[in-house]
Amino acid sequence: MSVVEIVDHPLIQHKISLLRDRRTGTKEFRDMVSEVSTLLCYEATRDLPLEEVEVETPIALARTKVLAGRKLALVPILRAGLGMVDGMLNLIPAAKVGHIGLYRNEETLEPVEYYCKLPKDIAEREVIVLDPMLATGSSAADAITMIKQRGAKHIKFIGLIAAPEGMKVLHAAHPDVDIYVAALDEKLNEKGYIVPGLGDAGDRIFGTK
Ligand code: URA
Repeated sequence: MSVVEIVDHPLIQHKISLLRDRRTGTKEFRDMVSEVSTLLCYEATRDLPLEEVEVETPIALARTKVLAGRKLALVPILRAGLGMVDGMLNLIPAAKVGHIGLYRNEETLEPVEYYCKLPKDIAEREVIVLDPMLATGSSAADAITMIKQRGAKHIKFIGLIAAPEGMKVLHAAHPDVDIYVAALDEKLNEKGYIVPGLGDAGDRIFGTK
């Protein structure tokens, strides 16, 4: 059974409120996206396997646990997903980072990949796909299809804010993928923006508006 979790820790709710505020400037917005990503990473890595080791403390020998070395890969969806990478790497610094960029051909409606560079051993890695806004869900679903086509079997998705429509589309397309978001909003508007959302995440992270 896959996980679909709205991670509503008070610290996350507080920071999401600041992200939503139109008065929040680029630097603060970028820093906050990183912080929320770190907190979501903490939750999404709860099931990482551990192994027992012995370490010598200054007092005695301790039987204790360390990560069992499952290899991780982060794959931000261009461009807004980039804003989440540093916050994730705060907790999992050894993760490799791939990138995927896609758009939809307006005539055929087929997803077209304009950039895809993934770690060579992606098939052996636990992959975490990043996109702050799970709006229609089609980019996330298409990106995950492409990552699966390259052999990845264990995939999670982390976003900041989801629309119910996006959640439904992503979960239906990839029922095996665990989904972690910080908030589930009301709906999408006619322009594809999440309501109330936070506006265009890419523009707000990169200061392009
Ligand atoms: N992408 C965004 O950046 N914001 C939305 O509300 C929807 C998609």
